Amino acid sequence: MIIHNTIKNNINNVMKKLVLSLVFLSFLFQPIAKADEGMWLPMLLGEQVYADMVKKGLKVSKEQLYSMNQACIKDAIIIFGGGCTGEIVSKEGLIFTNHHCGYSAIAAASTVDHNYLKDGFWAKSKSEEIYAPGVHAQFLIKIVDVTDKVNEKMKDIPSLELTQKLPGILAEMATKETEGTAYEGRIASMFKANQFLLFVYERYKDVRLVGTPPESIGKFGGDTDNWEWPRHTGDFSIFRVYTNKEGKAADYAADNVPLKAKYSLPVSIKGVKDGDYTMIWGYPGGTNRYETSYGVKLKTDIENPSLVDLRDVRLKYMLEEMKKDPAVKIQLAGNYAGIANYWKFFDGESKQLLKYKTYEEKQANEAAFLAWAKGKPEYENVFNDYKKIYDTWRPYAKQRVYMTEGIFGSPLIAFASSLQKLDATLSKKDVTKEEITKAVDAAKTARTNFIKAENIVSDKNILAFVTQAFYNDIDPAQHPAGFYAMINSKYGDLKSKATYEALSKDVFANTAFLDNTKWDAMVANPDTAVLHKDPAFMIANAFNTNFNSKYAKLFSDFNAQNFVIGKTYLKGILEMNKGKKMYPDANFTMRVSFGNVKSYSPRDAVKYSHVCTLTGVLEKYKPGDYEFDAPVKLIELAKAKDFGQYMDADAKDIVVSFISSNDITGGNSGSPVINAKGELIGLAFDGNYEALSHKIKFDKDLNRTINLDVRYLLWVVEKLGGATNIINELDLRKM
Ligand code: ARG
Repeated sequence: MIIHNTIKNNINNVMKKLVLSLVFLSFLFQPIAKADEGMWLPMLLGEQVYADMVKKGLKVSKEQLYSMNQACIKDAIIIFGGGCTGEIVSKEGLIFTNHHCGYSAIAAASTVDHNYLKDGFWAKSKSEEIYAPGVHAQFLIKIVDVTDKVNEKMKDIPSLELTQKLPGILAEMATKETEGTAYEGRIASMFKANQFLLFVYERYKDVRLVGTPPESIGKFGGDTDNWEWPRHTGDFSIFRVYTNKEGKAADYAADNVPLKAKYSLPVSIKGVKDGDYTMIWGYPGGTNRYETSYGVKLKTDIENPSLVDLRDVRLKYMLEEMKKDPAVKIQLAGNYAGIANYWKFFDGESKQLLKYKTYEEKQANEAAFLAWAKGKPEYENVFNDYKKIYDTWRPYAKQRVYMTEGIFGSPLIAFASSLQKLDATLSKKDVTKEEITKAVDAAKTARTNFIKAENIVSDKNILAFVTQAFYNDIDPAQHPAGFYAMINSKYGDLKSKATYEALSKDVFANTAFLDNTKWDAMVANPDTAVLHKDPAFMIANAFNTNFNSKYAKLFSDFNAQNFVIGKTYLKGILEMNKGKKMYPDANFTMRVSFGNVKSYSPRDAVKYSHVCTLTGVLEKYKPGDYEFDAPVKLIELAKAKDFGQYMDADAKDIVVSFISSNDITGGNSGSPVINAKGELIGLAFDGNYEALSHKIKFDKDLNRTINLDVRYLLWVVEKLGGATNIINELDLRKM
């Protein structure tokens, strides 16, 4: 799951008028958690928040949630891979996570002949488990407040240099704090750099695939159903953590042994009822709940629509090729899923932000803040400052999206762009042999990865499209100097699609990056002149040079100022709300959110049930369809009502998934949904379409988390996979 930075824009008369109605407005102010809003730091719950959890139904003690002295729930929660959550469910280190979290690892283990993505995979014994290179499991060891130490370091740095320097400083401090231990540290900034916490982790690098359903279960409904309820996806996969024989974290070795888990979650098969207590633990990647009205407007006016338009077409070209050839399908699957997931997200986010009038609500919040800030010199200019920086940056914001999501949306050009480092090294005065060798080796590795992922047909179409889109949609004053004149003279009319197709064809026919002989010659004798003549490099270079010479500084100034103003704004908000319950924005640190299983009404006259079942899978099933096919065996089992101990007593069916009111976001994928007694009842895997504004605004009525019912997982493992070995490892609770 990916974390996206949000950005910003304009103060007006409306705000001045709104200042007047302060008393009325102050309760609108968003940072105070209400309803089921809140992603809480489990170690800093405080009596107030814990009491709220108990009031909602929680039955376990605070020490059972989070403790430094005893094994507890927090010890079963892991960072899975680069951006997901997983949970330990057996004494032997078994992990449950989402199918979409294991997706790239499953694709990487697949070939056309052993196609685990398509057919699923079940290890019937530990020796059959498949090592998943690059997939790591990280356990949280402890958290330390290092705010004073960081402030001490920040004190001497000019505030406008903080965005640049702080990450390095924090990394260095974290390394120092964990020096000489087997752990690694990361310092996270909370409340926009008003608090700093050191998180200490232990990283396990030997993680193996234990089981996965076929994609037709794990991704049933595809992108059509993604971000939507009702949802019939069996979004799970199963892995295991291994250690060396001493029980220590270690690199992969064939004779490593399963982790002896400190704590593992018991699994309840009792089922859920509307209103049941639910808490979700995990690693939400990013929210921006203190986003300003300026940021919201920039997002809905420019950033989101641009990204969506560009991804629309890139996805179309990729899918065309994936549908033609199963090998291409495996090759592009992971990338495609990532691009598609946030393509739909950002489209929905804009729609919901507009529907909820979030811009206007933010303006009202800001007016309330200004009224409070009146006469406080530190704070009273915050929104004038915001207005200034957004006014300055806004005219260039679209161009930046057209670079990152457009021009560099072509994998060839993105690779070519990565070679600018090699180019810079080669052009350096007094460059050493070692430096060149290092840069060349990096380029070779990058190329190997690029070639592995490259589908030429779709990329060729993408390049033609993005170069034309940039020409059509971006202010000509912001075009790279001479670039389009060159295209015009070489390939023809700039308004014609054929021109860009001719350009793209030429680039793909002549670049050395796709030709092994030419590439080998190039890296054997690296030379900037040769690099600069490569047609793919020329394109990357033209756009990079344009951006770097004229707009990069504007962008970094914008970010630097945004950081400084934001820090002040949040300091003010914390002061203004002293004594109230507040949670920091998500930043991929461990959080817990609590709520209830909860049905909802998305619009007039429509009521959504809190669960959906196998009956719905049968209803949606379309044999042979790209998104709604399902394994024949699943259909047979469903029709035969062969449900075993996993049948839901109320539905007389298998419950596939259920919804709850928890506050989560991307990064929480794979997170355990835990009941009042501390037992696993499901795996969070999505949010609902009606509340896709949630990174910026939590909607207390319509926000829902979509959770896989763990009984569906168990039923698939047992009945479809026949992997009773997995079931036998679990601590199943029937009552
Ligand atoms: N929307 C889900 C999330 O962000 C990912 C679902 C993956 N499925 C898909 N059809 N792309 O956690």
